[in-house]
Amino acid sequence: MSKVPPKQEGDPNTTGHSWDGIEEFDNPMPRWWLWTFYATIVWGVIYTIAYPAWPLVSSATAGLLGYSTRAEVAAEISAVEEANAGINAQLASAELTEISADTTLNSYAVSSGAAVFRTWCAQCHGSGAAGFVGYPNLLDDDWLWGGDIEAIHATIAHGIRNEEDPDARYSEMPAFGEILEPEEISQVVHYVMQLSGGDADAGLAGPGAEVFADNCSSCHGENGLGDRELGAPNLADAIWLYGGDEAALTETVTYSRYGVMPPWTQRLTEAQIRAVALYVHQLGGGE
Ligand code: HEC
Ligand code: HEC
Repeated sequence: MSKVPPKQEGDPNTTGHSWDGIEEFDNPMPRWWLWTFYATIVWGVIYTIAYPAWPLVSSATAGLLGYSTRAEVAAEISAVEEANAGINAQLASAELTEISADTTLNSYAVSSGAAVFRTWCAQCHGSGAAGFVGYPNLLDDDWLWGGDIEAIHATIAHGIRNEEDPDARYSEMPAFGEILEPEEISQVVHYVMQLSGGDADAGLAGPGAEVFADNCSSCHGENGLGDRELGAPNLADAIWLYGGDEAALTETVTYSRYGVMPPWTQRLTEAQIRAVALYVHQLGGGE
């Protein structure tokens, strides 16, 4: 049922398609368009021969020019490494305690240490180093294992309670669920809450002091101030690695905790370890 009027002399050619009386002209493509189109095809063919292009099963065609983005990145990295080789060697060999006095070396160390931290440490300690439950805050001056540059360097190099490095920092708090009666645990928990200024029950905290003296003071100290030789936290400062409310403390005392940090000597260079140690040291809590 075509409503197309009969064709007149001089009408442009049409494709013969029509719909509701609308017809499609059959005009030739503009020349410029056609030649651009052919040019892109030629370009495409040349490009896929010259550059990596066609996917194969486990790789791709390499291209005659041998170009690779990976090689380009590797070249950039090695150029940066070469440019920094001198200062890195200086950083790795300087006396640790004297680096902070050398402004150039120190500012290089701190800025490259910040990059190391973002790459290797932030997933556990947080991008701002404020930590999470079980992962210590590195901004404050509360240190488990020591906050001078040498202690921080040793902690980072060898890690904590890991099985890869024989020099890792090591200690283990016993699980007192197997040693003390539930009542004694409750007493000592309230004593710890009292030590740290928490909302403790004095009736439980009183006998708890004795439980503490018998079972806990050997590691945490007589007054609960902690022992950095053992990585035993200060329990009187209201800064908690695992939480300071009754439930968290009861869990800690009953089952104990075992925080593990990997060693970094195999993954990072000595210059990188020193850089990140100096970075952590200057964050605010360094001694
Ligand atoms: C897999 C998680 C993890 C990663 C990654 C990690 N850490 Fe740790 N780090 C820990 C844990 C857990 C502790 C606390 C262990 C404990 O309970 O004694 C810790 C403790 C520390 C301490 C000791 C703090 C103190 O109070 O003495 C320092 C310093 C430290 N980390 C720095 C770093 C740096 C720098 C990096 C990156 C090179 C890093 N950590 C990467 C888990 C991690
Ligand atoms: C053998 C040494 C040792 C003894 C004994 C010991 N602790 Fe600990 N305690 C540690 C260590 C080491 C840690 C840190 C564990 C970690 O970081 O994974 C710790 C952690 C804790 C924490 C967690 C602190 C926080 O910041 O979250 C509490 C609470 C605690 N101990 C209480 C006690 C109490 C109460 C006793 C006695 C009933 C006791 N400890 C006996 C070594 C000891």
